[in-house]
Amino acid sequence: MSLFIPLNFGFLDLLWIIPIGFFYILPAYFANGGAVLMGKYFLKTPMDFGKSLSDEQRILGDGKTWGGFLGGILLGSIGGFVMWLIVFIIPIFTIVVSFGMIDYMITPIFYGMNPLRGFLMSLGALVGDAVGSFVKRRFKKERGAKFPLIDQLDFIIGAILFSGLDFWTILFYPTYNLLAIWPLIAFAIIITWILHRIANILAFRMKLKKEPW
Ligand code: CTP
Ligand code: MG
Repeated sequence: MSLFIPLNFGFLDLLWIIPIGFFYILPAYFANGGAVLMGKYFLKTPMDFGKSLSDEQRILGDGKTWGGFLGGILLGSIGGFVMWLIVFIIPIFTIVVSFGMIDYMITPIFYGMNPLRGFLMSLGALVGDAVGSFVKRRFKKERGAKFPLIDQLDFIIGAILFSGLDFWTILFYPTYNLLAIWPLIAFAIIITWILHRIANILAFRMKLKKEPW
């Protein structure tokens, strides 16, 4: 596995980071949204089965259900599968899209997209989300209480880390690894934090959520 840390790209190359950064992180959004949706409708059993630790706080809390966990993985994986179909079944994409100078970073993300990565990133998103809740409970924060950074980023960090396990892309694009795509990762983290804040404030104002975070 070769390591390539890109530092010398031009301004126009940098613009590619926006669409490809979104493309990269999209399975995590499907998974996270899917968990909220599915957690409300089936298998409402809490992942920690209601158990607490010796600090008398719940392990994860009632906000982490098996329905949300499995449903999020399912919807995220379906989303990733559809992304893979779009890249491969519609050949016009592969003809029209050319990525210029930062090909080595973007090609594995776009052309290397595959159902395994969608599944791994969805699993990572839900594991990261559960780890975030675990940390919140250890700090004695109630379910839904505000916890800056963790609230917005736990699922995205999990999805990014698990995307590094995508051996399918590693096999066919040997330069692919998390260090090589660090600009996409940086973009994904920053934009997710911003979008998460905006979405939750809007949902609060529209009375869809009880808290603005
Ligand atoms: N959800 C779920 N199962 C999961 C993840 C999420 O059922 N594994 C659903 C729950 O209905 C949860 C909602 O999605 O309330 C929003 O998720 P999140 O904000 O992560 O949970 P919180 O309720 O805020 O709980 P916590 O304080 O643990 O983050
Ligand atoms: Mg929350």
